Amino acid sequence: MRTSQLFRRYLVIIPICLGTIFVFYVTNNFMDKTRNSRDLNADCDCSKRDIPNNQDIPNGQDFPNRQDIPNRQDITNRQDIPNRQDIPNRQDIPNKQDIPKKQENIPKAENVQNVKKIPAIPEQTDPKCAREPKDDPNVNPLSKFYSVWYDPPTEVAKKDHVKILIWTELWDKQMRKILPKGKGAKCGSMPNCIFTGFRSEIHEADAVLFEVSNLQKDYNASVFPTVRYPRQHWVWYHTECPGFPSINFETYRSVFNWTITYRADSDSSGAWGSLHRTYQRLKVEGVDPNKDYTVGKRKLAVWFISKCNTQANRVAYATELVKYMHIDVFGRCGKTVCAKWNVTCMPGIIRQYKFYLAFENMICKEYLTEKFWRNALANDVIPVVMGANRSDYERLAPPHSYIHVDDFKSAKELADYLMMLGQDKEKYNAYFKWKTHPPKNIPLEEGMWCNMCRELFNRCPTKRKLYTNLRGWFEGENHSMCDPMVDVKFKELQFEDNRFKVASYA
Ligand SMILES: *[C@@H]1O[C@H](CO)[C@@H](O)[C@H](O)[C@H]1NC(C)=O
Ligand SMILES: *[C@@H]1O[C@H](CO)[C@@H](O)[C@H](O)[C@H]1NC(C)=O
Ligand SMILES: *[C@@H]1O[C@H](CO)[C@@H](O)[C@H](O)[C@H]1NC(C)=O
Ligand SMILES: *[C@@H]1O[C@H](CO)[C@@H](O)[C@H](O)[C@H]1NC(C)=O
Ligand SMILES: *[C@@H]1O[C@H](CO)[C@@H](O)[C@H](O)[C@H]1NC(C)=O
Repeated sequence: MRTSQLFRRYLVIIPICLGTIFVFYVTNNFMDKTRNSRDLNADCDCSKRDIPNNQDIPNGQDFPNRQDIPNRQDITNRQDIPNRQDIPNRQDIPNKQDIPKKQENIPKAENVQNVKKIPAIPEQTDPKCAREPKDDPNVNPLSKFYSVWYDPPTEVAKKDHVKILIWTELWDKQMRKILPKGKGAKCGSMPNCIFTGFRSEIHEADAVLFEVSNLQKDYNASVFPTVRYPRQHWVWYHTECPGFPSINFETYRSVFNWTITYRADSDSSGAWGSLHRTYQRLKVEGVDPNKDYTVGKRKLAVWFISKCNTQANRVAYATELVKYMHIDVFGRCGKTVCAKWNVTCMPGIIRQYKFYLAFENMICKEYLTEKFWRNALANDVIPVVMGANRSDYERLAPPHSYIHVDDFKSAKELADYLMMLGQDKEKYNAYFKWKTHPPKNIPLEEGMWCNMCRELFNRCPTKRKLYTNLRGWFEGENHSMCDPMVDVKFKELQFEDNRFKVASYA
């Protein structure tokens, strides 16, 4: 009796269950279709494993010092940070490869105003979401190379960390040996900014980093993540100037949300050095205001150069300069004394000289590299700079810390000035006064990892951005970011007997 009653009850329950599943399935499918290319509300956090592995915890001993750790309020307005309560329903997980392939799929600026906002959380009250001047085409002509829009606010609760997934390897093979995947990445002052190299953590990542030299020349979806969350930033990371394109930009349209480059208008700074970091270093090292910087410097000028050919503007200039003054040339086209990445042997050499030729390999806006920051400034030698316009150095570098070649009518005039300065202790030492006179309002720039953490903590939760024309933005309209190379026949050079000759190995 009992068994048959139970059986009859099941006969009723089973169809109901099947019906429910059917209805759920149909609804689900319909929602997926309506969602299609932009997942408006799928603000996914998916944090199931919020406890980082030991490897992911940044090393606390890292520079900068404790006293430089910003106040929590500076880092973030806590209520804007989404947290784990925001675990999405199944249907909120985006479809594979939502990347719009063509311009048409990209939300247009006009549509932004039409997006329905949830009135309970007005976007305008969040200062982080104020429109940035650099997104205004009247202020920044480069803004036409990316799209900016705002998604409707979603109920996102607090989250006290951000996670950065390093998807590609970092830099070239030589660096890779020193810094295995993900290992070089950390921000000592922000331990709640977590770096990982484990691709399985894609679902929890606030940002996914792609380093340019480890990207395939053409965009290839199969080496990119197969899921993409609307709130997640795919970040293009490149520290070199546009002179040496390593990827086929056209195929990378509408792939990346953010950029990290040496340029200040990047979404996060990847500058080679900065006033902030320089003065932080001096705080640690200490500065003697009465130091005589001519002591121990018996030699005049030194130049390290690895790419040495007649096309580069700097070589043409140096060819002229060596006619009027003595310069020791090291590197591939001069005497080889140091391996490229050997940071231990270069300072010992550089510190014997009064001047260091910090000639950049390309003349590009804001392109100041380690030649300036690390090789020259950090070694107490005056950099003679050629590269970005003087106004860039005035903005970015310590005041009266360098000699810009553009200040001289000719190479001869520059040579005369350097030889005079080399003999004048007082004038020479004046180029180091910046050490004890920090400029006011030094912009915060703590190195690329911490910069990125800070930007992620400070981002507007509803703002979306997509580089629809990465090349346009990076190279500038009509390649305006860089001066063209000198248009002479390409020849490899060699420095011998105090002059440049066509290299015998060429
Ligand atoms: C995409 O990348 C994969 C993995 O490296 C490779 O096997 C494949 O040939 C690539 N496809 C194209 C079209 O280059
Ligand atoms: C770097 O240079 C120093 C001094 O010349 C040398 O002793 C050392 O072996 C070099 N290191 C590497 C990794 O080449
Ligand atoms: C280059 O810098 C000089 C000196 O600051 C400035 O007068 C000039 O306008 C700048 N040129 C460009 C093209 O920015
Ligand atoms: C990044 O771009 C993708 C593709 O358009 C978009 O779905 C996503 O919302 C963007 N993310 C951010 C944070 O801008
Ligand atoms: C770029 O070149 C085009 C065609 O020569 C010209 O119409 C346009 O004004 C240039 N843009 C800039 C910013 O120089």
